[in-house]
Amino acid sequence: MAGELPSDFTWGVATSAYQIEGAVHAHGRGESIWDRFCRQPGRVRAAESGEIACDFYHRYPDDIALMRELGVDAFRFSVAWPRVIPDGTGPVNEAGLDFYERLVDGLLEAGIEPFVNLFHWDLPQPLEDAGGWPVRATAEAFVDYAETVATRLGDRVRHWITHNEPYCTAWLGYGLGIHAPGRTSVGDAIAAAHHALLSHGWTVEALRSAAPGSAVGTVIDYWPAFPASDAPEDAEAARIADGIRNRWFFDPVLRGEYPADAMERLATHAPPVRAGDMEAIAAPLDFLGLNNYSRMFVRADPGGGLPLTVRAPGGELTDMGWEIYPDALCEGLVRLHEEYDAPPLYVSESGAAFSDVVTHDGAVHDLERIAYLDSYIEAMTRAVERGVDVRGFFVWSLLDNFEWSLGYAKRFGLVYVDYPTLERTPKDSFHWYRERIRGSRSALPSTTVSVSPD
Ligand code: GCO
Repeated sequence: MAGELPSDFTWGVATSAYQIEGAVHAHGRGESIWDRFCRQPGRVRAAESGEIACDFYHRYPDDIALMRELGVDAFRFSVAWPRVIPDGTGPVNEAGLDFYERLVDGLLEAGIEPFVNLFHWDLPQPLEDAGGWPVRATAEAFVDYAETVATRLGDRVRHWITHNEPYCTAWLGYGLGIHAPGRTSVGDAIAAAHHALLSHGWTVEALRSAAPGSAVGTVIDYWPAFPASDAPEDAEAARIADGIRNRWFFDPVLRGEYPADAMERLATHAPPVRAGDMEAIAAPLDFLGLNNYSRMFVRADPGGGLPLTVRAPGGELTDMGWEIYPDALCEGLVRLHEEYDAPPLYVSESGAAFSDVVTHDGAVHDLERIAYLDSYIEAMTRAVERGVDVRGFFVWSLLDNFEWSLGYAKRFGLVYVDYPTLERTPKDSFHWYRERIRGSRSALPSTTVSVSPD
């Protein structure tokens, strides 16, 4: 049912710089931690990298044309910090800013609203060499970078996102070693999370002054934790998993505090909080983006370690091995509204990887992706019906792209990318989403009175 969504509801698609741009050596771009990480043996499946990716850097006009055909209202993309300030601090690379200016202008000409995300994990390598996110100076450098971008684009960009998924920046990059820079230290992960959150808070004000009148928000991913059994230990494990994975980020941003129970569990690694930090992190926001794909199913570690996530029995899985569980999206939106009194929300990412193929008729019949999107949009609509202020939905992703340490093996796009030729083929889900958007517009309750000719 389309009619329950607000009339100015924003339909969009989401991407990130390193996953689509390629052109890593073009026009003065500096090295990012992902360029370095991809060169280290064994880090990324099949030694792949974002060196070419979808070549969006050169093909963006064609991709804007695709988005126009798709009929989306908005495009969420990220700016590559190393394109703008190649060393992380110091001289600005104007050619890098020129690229994002051309992109923003092209989107606006096509009637597509840019949602600009300032950090999607591609930290300049020199900042990592100086300590990375676990050191406070990186948060300071981020504010200068954000101001630089907003000074150039602030007269045209109405929606700013400071960070994408600080959990992943911190834990996948510094705690679990799955993402760049590949460190494995719980202490570093916790310090990295704190400085990413702090840089977010500091930047909210900086963006508001550089881009007056724009809306500023951030994006956090949500994986609700369900206990794997009725045992009290599993219930407790789920509570702690929720604390570390979800509340550790929502609580500081929306309440100005870390969750006490999870803090206690990780007591040997307290975040490096200084006076004024928590107030800065809780800067009031104009919106919050929620990324949701699935849920966690949690069991206590019999050895007394951190909670273990296990596979939910009987769940239908995507190609990522993630359970398709749309209720999690509804629950997350309702929870943010009821427990946190959150600002207006966006579903800033949801989507699914499947092993798509171009068939003999030249099409990609990705029926599972259509079913996934249909069920997640329906779950979001249920949250709206329960009174949650949800302003938009962004499909991850426009194009098949570089899925981090899994390389090009996981296809999330509404558009299939043939990597050897970079040819784009809209999948069936592309056509479905276009009709879904159109249908939602035509189903809008009319405000004009129809007069019958008699
Ligand atoms: C994410 C990311 C994307 C991923 C997507 C699929 O925020 O995790 O924003 O970079 O590609 O989520 O895993």
